[in-house]
Amino acid sequence: EKGGYPHFMLKEIFEQPSAFSNTVSPRLRDGKIDLGIELTDEQLKNFKQIHIVACGTAMHAGIVGRYLIEKLARIPVNVDVASEFRYRDPILNKEDLVIIISQSGETADTLAAMRLAKKHGAHTLAVVNVVGSSIAREADSVLYTWAGPEIAVASTKAYTVQLSVMYLLAFKLGLCKGTLSQADAVALIDELAGIPVQLQSILGHAEEYKAIAEKYCHAEDMFFIGRGLDYALSQEGSLKLKEISYIHSEAYAAGELKHGTISLITDGVPVIALATQQRLCEKMVSNIKEVKARGADVLFICYEGYGDCSEFADSVIALPQSNDLFAPLLSIIPMQLFAYYVALLKGCDVDKPRNLAKSVTVE
Ligand code: M6R
Repeated sequence: EKGGYPHFMLKEIFEQPSAFSNTVSPRLRDGKIDLGIELTDEQLKNFKQIHIVACGTAMHAGIVGRYLIEKLARIPVNVDVASEFRYRDPILNKEDLVIIISQSGETADTLAAMRLAKKHGAHTLAVVNVVGSSIAREADSVLYTWAGPEIAVASTKAYTVQLSVMYLLAFKLGLCKGTLSQADAVALIDELAGIPVQLQSILGHAEEYKAIAEKYCHAEDMFFIGRGLDYALSQEGSLKLKEISYIHSEAYAAGELKHGTISLITDGVPVIALATQQRLCEKMVSNIKEVKARGADVLFICYEGYGDCSEFADSVIALPQSNDLFAPLLSIIPMQLFAYYVALLKGCDVDKPRNLAKSVTVE
């Protein structure tokens, strides 16, 4: 049932190109997006505020979603951890859209948060992988991700397809709002449809990521840093690593390090620095130089053809050139494989990490 792979996690990482196509292709027709939900374009246009509520990795997909929706559709978006959202008396209106993201569709806090949103009359849209799950049944609208069963506790392919749905939603909302032109949407849709080929080519570098994992697997602490979308991805990369390898790891917005955390950077501490956002690259490099000067061992994740980074990078992972907006879909693959190989080299139970369950049905 592992299809020849030693672990479900590795199998699921390699299933990402097909999971992505299965989720995206049925919703694209002649350069147009058909989400297959009852909401009309008029309704989508009229949402004044969006809340994205989820837990763990699904919440990290929501953070990317916020960035995409705000950028392309100019609608304000809040992202909340479900267990916090429920208890902070959130301001919810009938004109609001509440997007609930959950692989299992059974996470107790996420389900309760959705019920709360419904009680306030907001429209609830669930992005769920398990067909017929509680969240899917109770939501006003459902957008299924078609990742197929995800068995490994560490979520990989479910995250990627959740991201793919965030792109579709952001494009659709942008078109309805008129903030995204038809011509720009066609170009973006075209790029989105080409992602599986790029994923496949990145997966071909797995052995290279394994060699990098060998270098870093003895670390006690690691830091992931980035800005903008790279910060969102840092949070997911860090969670993946700590959950299966038990290495203490933290994700930091690169510009925030100097406000406290940089005191933890000493000789040899690994810092995984993502720099896919051209607009923020120069600032990012100056943050990397700050940690380098304190002795950090820097693993630099950038695009191919970055040029000379020997001054501040000890190891490099180069991704195929891409539009910065789509970089999250690419940079997640080396981070998943890095976490996988580090955990494997440490002899951890990759598919069933200690203290964790696949579906968290307690509050
Ligand atoms: O089934 P859900 O998507 O609602 O689960 C949410 C989290 O429990 C889940 O993403 C968790 O963080 C994963 N173990 C992360 O790999």
